Amino acid sequence: MAEERKSVLRLENITKKFQGLTAVDDVSFDMKERSIYALIGPNGAGKTTTVNMITGVFPPTTGKIYYRDRCINGMKTFEIARLGIGRTFQNLKLFNSMSVLENLMIGGHEMTKIGLVNFCFNFGGSKKEEILLRERAEEVMEYLGIQDLAKRNVKNLSYGRQKIVELGRAMMTGPKLLLLDEPAAGLIPSERKEFVDIVLRMFEEGMDIFLIEHNMDVVMNVSTYITVLNFGSRIAEGTPKEIQSDPEVIKAYLGDKYQEIAAKERRD
Ligand SMILES: Nc1ncnc2c1ncn2[C@@H]1O[C@H](COP(=O)(O)OP(=O)(O)OP(=O)(O)O)[C@@H](O)[C@H]1O
Ligand SMILES: [Mg+2]
Repeated sequence: MAEERKSVLRLENITKKFQGLTAVDDVSFDMKERSIYALIGPNGAGKTTTVNMITGVFPPTTGKIYYRDRCINGMKTFEIARLGIGRTFQNLKLFNSMSVLENLMIGGHEMTKIGLVNFCFNFGGSKKEEILLRERAEEVMEYLGIQDLAKRNVKNLSYGRQKIVELGRAMMTGPKLLLLDEPAAGLIPSERKEFVDIVLRMFEEGMDIFLIEHNMDVVMNVSTYITVLNFGSRIAEGTPKEIQSDPEVIKAYLGDKYQEIAAKERRD
């Protein structure tokens, strides 16, 4: 019998209420290690809210979150980052008038003792830590093939390049689990392919990946397993093949294109 894979990220009956609105409604799932786990669903379904709870931006109203069987409810964002969870932001968290190198170094500051303000203005920050951050940033830029952009201001880069820098920022802390919030949104096809290649390479090298993405070609091609949210509730979970042919998912989210694919799969 195949060995049961360990849990990386487990949500148990997570609910998030914002005043009158239930953004996430009693959602549970168990992401196993060695997976690219996708969370999909229409706009406003509660995907980003879920990532915000996992990364400690705000606590769930009720429910429990476990990272590798350790309950992380109530932990601060930097503590969660230190455990090995990294994330990208849907609306990029970059400093536009700073260089790519500086942005990556700031991204890594959470793992060091240097405060952000000290770091930015170089007031008394430890030189040794700055050197380590710089080395790590150079490593990350090389990994992503953006060394030539090191000194460029983020605001002068194309949106596609900015998305890669955002990915680099999240990689600075060397996460074991990376949460990506719509990393391919707004990318042109060639950039999308580049992004998919990077994600698959990171996965092959041992990183587990949690992916929020609207582009179904990306989702269906790279995911091991998928959870679907609609109006805050989980309406389905399964393999890409199962999700593509799930009538409720097609109705709520995927639409006609996948109805045709599902019909074909049933015929095959
Ligand atoms: N901080 C907040 N305060 C109040 N309401 C919020 C907050 N964050 C999210 N919401 C609401 O919660 C619901 C879920 O939002 P969320 O951003 O999680 O959706 P999403 O699935 O990420 O959508 P999209 O695909 O458009 O990014 C929405 O109705 C949104 O307006
Ligand atoms: Mg979102």
